Amino acid sequence: MLAGDGSLDPQGPVAETMAGLWWLMLGLGVVVYAVFAFLLVRGLFRRRDATDSPPGGPAPKRFDWWVLGGGVVMPVVVLTVVLGGTVWALREVPSSAPQGALVVEIVGHQWWWEVRYPEEGITTANELHIPVGRPVAVELTSADVIHSFWVPALAGKLDALPDGTNTLVLEADEPGEHRSMCAEFCGLQHAEMGLIVVAEPTEQFASWVVNQQEQAEGPADEAGRRGEDVFVGTDCASCHTVRGTSADGTEGPDLTHVASRPTIGAGAAPNAPEDLTAWVTDPHTIKDGVLMPAADLDDEELEAVVAYLESLE
Ligand code: CUA
Repeated sequence: MLAGDGSLDPQGPVAETMAGLWWLMLGLGVVVYAVFAFLLVRGLFRRRDATDSPPGGPAPKRFDWWVLGGGVVMPVVVLTVVLGGTVWALREVPSSAPQGALVVEIVGHQWWWEVRYPEEGITTANELHIPVGRPVAVELTSADVIHSFWVPALAGKLDALPDGTNTLVLEADEPGEHRSMCAEFCGLQHAEMGLIVVAEPTEQFASWVVNQQEQAEGPADEAGRRGEDVFVGTDCASCHTVRGTSADGTEGPDLTHVASRPTIGAGAAPNAPEDLTAWVTDPHTIKDGVLMPAADLDDEELEAVVAYLESLE
């Protein structure tokens, strides 16, 4: 678990507004529950007295203030407060890009997230880097089915649709890493469709952007260079892009800086050499049903490709 991972531990203004509404509703619910539990217990132990209906005869007609108070007045008051809080929260949470917002386009795929920064001209996958203290407008779409983008610590959830754009605004107050999971069932590996949000100080974010904008330095050693040749000469290049090479596929994640990411397979495994080797050999052993096929490489080629991918910092 990463720090500040839940919607009740909000790490930014949007999530704070929503958590505030939740606590208001919980508080009202507790008060109503306590009042009725008290009245119920009191009623159970109350002794019948002379004002109750006499044996054999009809009860005397009298106006029941309890019914009016508990059945009409209290629900009206409680629901009006909840409605007011909800309307307030809806107005507080921006639904379009505020002034000065960082715009990020996120595209849901079965089963990974494509993350594009149009202004900065960079594309990555399964990680969202954001600067602390600046609103971020996430423009959500999908390449296939409906997915749902949700970073509980920073904002509510919003669908990523194949036929329209939904804008989710979020903001982080403090540096930190937050987990995000697809929140709409989207097929076999819905549960392995994760994304890491890295909120970082402005300068650190700027230097991340600069590094992403550069082409990867590429392999410094013989094995890596051999790996690059194998990569661009095989099916890898028809699905993946590595800027600065002839690999320009768009079916799978952009791998220009894949070695700088913490996980592979949208959080299915850590980005470690042995996991990467297993993934390239046959990704289905890690993530069954994934659309990437097993690589048709011999041992020497496999080792070279992994060395190459590891060099893409
Ligand atoms: Cu994508 Cu569930």
